[in-house]
Amino acid sequence: MTRWLVRGGLVATCDDQHTTFEGDVAVEDGALVALGPGAADALTPPYRVLDARGCAVLPGFVQGHIHLVQTLFRGMAEGVPLLEWLRRYIWPLEAAHDEASLRASAELGLCELVRSGTTTLLDMGTTHGHDAVFEACLASGARVFGGKAMMDAGRGVPKGLRETTAESLRESARLADAWQGREGRIGYAYCPRFILSCSEKLLRAVAEAAPARGALVHTHAAEHASERAAVRAIYGASDVEVLARFGLKGPHVVLAHGVQLTPGEMTRAAKAGTRVVHCPNSNLKLGSGVASVRELGERGVHVGLGADGAPCNNNLDAFHEMRSAGLVAGIRSGPGSLDARAVLHLATLGGARALGLASKIGSLEPGKRADLVVVALDDVHAAPALDPLVAVVFACQSRDVRHVMADGRLLVRDGEPLDFDAPRIAARAREEARRVGLRAGVL
Ligand code: GUN
Ligand code: ZN
Repeated sequence: MTRWLVRGGLVATCDDQHTTFEGDVAVEDGALVALGPGAADALTPPYRVLDARGCAVLPGFVQGHIHLVQTLFRGMAEGVPLLEWLRRYIWPLEAAHDEASLRASAELGLCELVRSGTTTLLDMGTTHGHDAVFEACLASGARVFGGKAMMDAGRGVPKGLRETTAESLRESARLADAWQGREGRIGYAYCPRFILSCSEKLLRAVAEAAPARGALVHTHAAEHASERAAVRAIYGASDVEVLARFGLKGPHVVLAHGVQLTPGEMTRAAKAGTRVVHCPNSNLKLGSGVASVRELGERGVHVGLGADGAPCNNNLDAFHEMRSAGLVAGIRSGPGSLDARAVLHLATLGGARALGLASKIGSLEPGKRADLVVVALDDVHAAPALDPLVAVVFACQSRDVRHVMADGRLLVRDGEPLDFDAPRIAARAREEARRVGLRAGVL
């Protein structure tokens, strides 16, 4: 059993009261056992010490919408609108993935995420080969919820991605049985990609299958006006209304984006308990607009934060996402409408609530799992850090991440990932990205 004392930091618990104090955090058997100046007394020696002086100690960041399989496509699909971007670049690239490229893509994304302080993510895969992604997730030490993308319909879906309804459901069930609950860190999410790539039959079947297996449902919705219009042309209703009509609403349903949600849809989402993940940089890059995060929160919707995939962001860094969330909220809802504490909530406890994990993670409180990140506040771009939480959200960068722990296991020490060979991962990513890009006809 490993015991840790995280010593001498500014501990931002990110609980509902935003409790912050100078002191220590004691970890035993993967759990937080005591916090405060006398936390060491809770530990029976020997224990290991992590130096957090001059640093903020925060819950590990939660990212509620990621595509690990797209990390290799970073920079390959620039400057086109959403549906063309998917049909011309992303889907052919995903169809060209083989096991080696899927593994390289997942490892690249996980290395970037963990090194920048993300300890929990909700990931949407592609239609095939998802065991390789889960294997990389398990090895990373991170807490990962995710599943294969489901695509049994739609215009422009290449042959290499198109599945029958039965195949899609069968493979999702197999993956859920194989991976749900592994090492207490892996969870399954049924991932019907979005309405435009799924039949009514598939969506209705997912609405039955996911709760029966204790799985989440993760899909894209209200991302862009073009996608909303295409759904309305087919069903005569908005995408979130159609999802709800087919049974896809409630606390286990996590919608990525929600940019176009109307006030009525926000109220209905709140009533149903449906969750939303805000992806500000992806929304800016694809010209989707700005989600009404403050208004969602005011109605009681649990909202998290996510980078989305590397090709619609170019980065998976939670610091970039936090900064953008705070800045774009000023455009949508007025300056200061999401202050540093509100943004930090999205990236921690809010994200944990969105994924149904708040009893385990999302804040630093005794009894929760030991997922934490230690962020240096003393570099010139963050000093003087008189309000340390403003510094973390608006001034700090991923290179300020000193230590990262998930489930009591140290993943990053002094800025260096312990379980990833970062130069090897980057080199393999370059090789596999070229291969998959050539196979797809994109390079
Ligand atoms: N909608 C359906 N698939 C995708 C995807 O891969 N990325 C984004 N941003 N939106 C989507
Ligand atoms: Zn996405």
